[in-house]
Amino acid sequence: MPRCKDHFYHKARRYGYRSRASYKLQQINDKFKLINRGATVVDLGAAPGGWLQVAKEISGGFVLGIDLQKIAPLEGVETLGGDITDPAIIEKIKGIIEKTGGADVVTSDMAPNLSGNWSLDHARSIDLSNSALNIAVEILKPGGNFVVKVFQGDMFSDFFNDVRKYFSFVKPYTPLASRKESAEIYIICKGFFRSPPAGRLS
Ligand SMILES: C[S@@+](CC[C@H](N)C(=O)[O-])C[C@H]1O[C@@H](n2cnc3c(N)ncnc32)[C@H](O)[C@@H]1O
Repeated sequence: MPRCKDHFYHKARRYGYRSRASYKLQQINDKFKLINRGATVVDLGAAPGGWLQVAKEISGGFVLGIDLQKIAPLEGVETLGGDITDPAIIEKIKGIIEKTGGADVVTSDMAPNLSGNWSLDHARSIDLSNSALNIAVEILKPGGNFVVKVFQGDMFSDFFNDVRKYFSFVKPYTPLASRKESAEIYIICKGFFRSPPAGRLS
């Protein structure tokens, strides 16, 4: 059965956002202030570009979006086609953001293609989230921020504990714009440690 088009879908169309997901990043940022003016933002799994529009509006700085799918051009935003799980992508991203000295914020709204098999979709989401964390750890400046979408399930708490090794503030959060029936949750991370402090590695 097709999903009904809700309030945020219509609002996104009215205000020219490419996806209703734009409102998730707006709500996350209103509450947690992840993106500051001038911030360099790298958005993983960025197509069609709703989060890129919001990140660019808030930061006004250098914004890069990466996706398997083509992202239609957006003024003032760089895009890169590629697979986040490919180890070679990190050097490509580093090359592109080199002039900014690194990322202030890494965002990931990545989601696997849904199979309908709940445990498989959860496991694939955790794999993508781990790839996003690996990239964040490689490219964030000290003190940088990260937000990552995860589908809830039995591997969630292990992933959450891994993320906690790298950031001084970590909190799960579901924005109002997430659909009620969705298993998605966002992990909000602030204050990146370049290397995990002693005691956070176990
Ligand atoms: C929910 S959509 C993102 C929507 C986006 N935040 C927006 O507001 O327009 C998830 C995206 O993750 C991308 N994705 C999934 N796996 C990926 C991978 N391995 N590498 C890059 N992108 C991936 C998909 O192609 C899809 O475009």
